[in-house]
Amino acid sequence: MNNTLWYPYAQMENLERNYKVLSGKGAYIKVENLKTKEEKDLLDGVSSWWCAVHGYNNQEINKVIKEQLDKIAHVMLGGLTHEWALKLADKLVEITPKGLNHVFFSDSGSVGVEIALKMAVQYHGNNGNREKSKFISLIKGYHGDTFKAMEVGNDSDFHGAFNHMMKETFYINIPEGGIEASEEQVQKALEELKNVLDNKAHEVAGFIVEPLLQGAGGFRVYSPKFLNEAYKLCKKYNVLVIFDEVATGFGRTGKMFAADYCDFVPDIMILGKALTGGYIGHAATIATTEVFEAFYGGGDKVLMHGPTFMGNPLACVASLKSIELFEKNNVVDKVKNIEKFFMEEFKDFSNRKVKNIRIFGAMAVLEVFEYKDVAKAQEYAYEKGVWLRPFGKYLYLMPSYILSEDEARKLCCTIKNYFSEMK
Ligand SMILES: Cc1ncc(COP(=O)(O)O)c(C=O)c1O
Repeated sequence: MNNTLWYPYAQMENLERNYKVLSGKGAYIKVENLKTKEEKDLLDGVSSWWCAVHGYNNQEINKVIKEQLDKIAHVMLGGLTHEWALKLADKLVEITPKGLNHVFFSDSGSVGVEIALKMAVQYHGNNGNREKSKFISLIKGYHGDTFKAMEVGNDSDFHGAFNHMMKETFYINIPEGGIEASEEQVQKALEELKNVLDNKAHEVAGFIVEPLLQGAGGFRVYSPKFLNEAYKLCKKYNVLVIFDEVATGFGRTGKMFAADYCDFVPDIMILGKALTGGYIGHAATIATTEVFEAFYGGGDKVLMHGPTFMGNPLACVASLKSIELFEKNNVVDKVKNIEKFFMEEFKDFSNRKVKNIRIFGAMAVLEVFEYKDVAKAQEYAYEKGVWLRPFGKYLYLMPSYILSEDEARKLCCTIKNYFSEMK
């Protein structure tokens, strides 16, 4: 096999490359089966790592990108400005929780996270507190694959090769009990946080979380009550709260942002993935005015970061159109419908291989007891005309939001039948 192309998260020695994508339309990708040469439309259950929220080949997003191409595809933001980045910054301030007023663009979720972490450390440094340079984060969190993002993440499945280099972060458990956690469950998790803060707050710059829904670390859901109380504790100890909404942002949880379930506004929020409707890699790190003002005035207070492709005009116009589609088509209501279909389909489902089923917004996951129990799911789904990408002990759905009721139910039935038919 030709190995010039090195694939993500893959052992190249025995990597099977079975499906070649030919095109995408709506909720489907057309693939060629490289073994049989068959061409087939697959209903996509994972929306390209959760970003293609309007599906593929959206005519309205295509149009603005084509028009933009004839003006300029890219130009740097250093020393220049342009209306597309200005408009998108204004729009993001308008739609995110009140108080997040200053937008820093970059080119991927991981880099957006790095920028948030740098902002937090330098915020304290600029305020004369250079000792506050570490982070608290959640066990089984995932924040990307760059170095500090790996460190504040906590998942050896992804970053085991580098564990010995990651020593500056304090990890605590999420509360048990899901969204509806009891007072006791919330208190237990808060005790852990309080313990770290009591002993280490003088070293801690920020508390970073994927709010309410942990993604790649295991699709775990937890209570906003925990975050509400955690925020109060963090304020008491002068620790910034950072919401990584790269996965949860833009409707995935059934509100536009997971922050919308909380009673407070985080100090910094990161958006990525669905920001451009899944068209182009782009991210936004958005800070409150209090954070921004720590950098305001004085040469040595500058935020020294500037990705080449920050504010890319194609990404900006795609993002503006994507947000317009959210508003025009009440897309978040569609997420609520998908959640309802998922709930109905899995309500009475159980199987001895399945340990737990979790559903939240347009996300459903079946956690199994053994890795081997999801190993054949992709092949099975392909036969049924569905694209799935299970990993670890998780078989999950994070589809686009344009699914019809039948399509949403088909995704669920494919998974249910896979388990039922398994020997
Ligand atoms: C919560 C979260 N943060 C950050 C990232 C990293 O984003 P990217 O892959 O665009 O670097 C991801 C990607 O899955 C994510 O889920």
